[in-house]
Amino acid sequence: MILVTGGAGFIGSNFVLDWLAQGDEPVVNLDALTYAGNRANLASLQGDARHHFVHGDITDRALVDSLLAKHQPRAIVHFAAESHVDRSIHGPGAFVKTNVEGTFTLLEAARAYWSGLADKAAFRFLHVSTDEVYGTLGAQDAPFAEDHPYEPNSPYSASKAASDHLVRAWHHTYGLPVLTTNCSNNYGPYHFPEKLIPLMIVNALAGKPLPVYGDGRQIRDWLYVRDHCSGIRAVLAGGRLGQTYNIGGWNEMANIDIVHTVCALLDELQPSPEGPYARLITHVTDRPGHDRRYAIDARKIERELGWRPAETFATGIRKTVQWYLQHPDWVQQVQSGAYRDWVAANYSARA
Ligand code: NAD
Ligand code: DAU
Repeated sequence: MILVTGGAGFIGSNFVLDWLAQGDEPVVNLDALTYAGNRANLASLQGDARHHFVHGDITDRALVDSLLAKHQPRAIVHFAAESHVDRSIHGPGAFVKTNVEGTFTLLEAARAYWSGLADKAAFRFLHVSTDEVYGTLGAQDAPFAEDHPYEPNSPYSASKAASDHLVRAWHHTYGLPVLTTNCSNNYGPYHFPEKLIPLMIVNALAGKPLPVYGDGRQIRDWLYVRDHCSGIRAVLAGGRLGQTYNIGGWNEMANIDIVHTVCALLDELQPSPEGPYARLITHVTDRPGHDRRYAIDARKIERELGWRPAETFATGIRKTVQWYLQHPDWVQQVQSGAYRDWVAANYSARA
């Protein structure tokens, strides 16, 4: 049994689906179902006794304590977070609450539970983090290695950096068996359409403008979400305690090139009678404090754990665009807000 937090979000739901496709070890999935959490992502697990969904908040210490005592997991895989940089600029409080206080709460609950375990050495606390904690790179700089200084620039990345430091300290001070992964930008199925790639797909299909921040020459390093999930499984299985592992696919691309790639795939797979989708590209005001370039040096996880991504960007982005074309109901529910109905119907039951 493992406890996953944030397993109704983009990466967490892909992780849970992959985990249960690969084996039979059950998952307790603790998720607060914020706007980013969507039970429809897990619809294929309905009735599957290996998946136990719990609607709740990681800042709720009593709830986390009770889940650990009841299910006795051998590991916690911690995805739950506020994850969108633009939202962190407009409302940083939720990021400090969930990413910092929530991680602290989980660490304290994990420490109390772990200290009572007979086999302490077997337990793992895997913290899922981001390359954004390292800050921004110049065009000629080497990619981020694990020993790169922390220089977070947005409220989101600062809150993730703080959580990474807490995880590190709980290992050094208390001996909690922790692992941290720092991954680059993910894309793939179930990606909430506020992030660049899914936003461009759904806006293009709706004939809406494709907003490119500033000159569009900012660089991100893109990894297909299921490759991130396989990297996390590799670290959970074989990572050295207290270590951090960067995960990335050596795939740096400028935003404007990503947008043109998405448009070209849509032109091929679902052409618009109005003409090429690139006609919708619109340069808009830049994001404040916008990091110019991220790039991951993934040699440590490759060398120590033999991990490699299965997808190239060409194969992964084609699968992604096809997934959105094949799931108009998912997109429609997210856009209309209907995916929140479960929360509305069940919220009082939680209290
Ligand atoms: P997401 O926003 O899609 O999902 C976050 C999930 O956490 C949602 O299901 C939400 O309901 C849940 N959640 C939020 N606050 C909670 C709380 N207080 N208690 C319980 N659940 C809560 O995020 P994502 O893109 O899937 O990212 C998952 C993790 O991976 C995050 O920690 C993020 O920092 C990290 N990460 C993301 C990327 C990326 O490209 N998306 C890259 C590297 C690392
Ligand atoms: O690097 C990992 C990080 O990647 C994760 O930790 C974050 O959770 C995840 O949201 C992502 O952060 P970014 O800010 O890089 O992702 P986003 O999709 O928001 O933006 C990608 C790039 O595209 C970024 O340079 C901003 C730009 N952009 C984004 C949006 C939403 C646009 O030009 N237009 C847009 O409308």
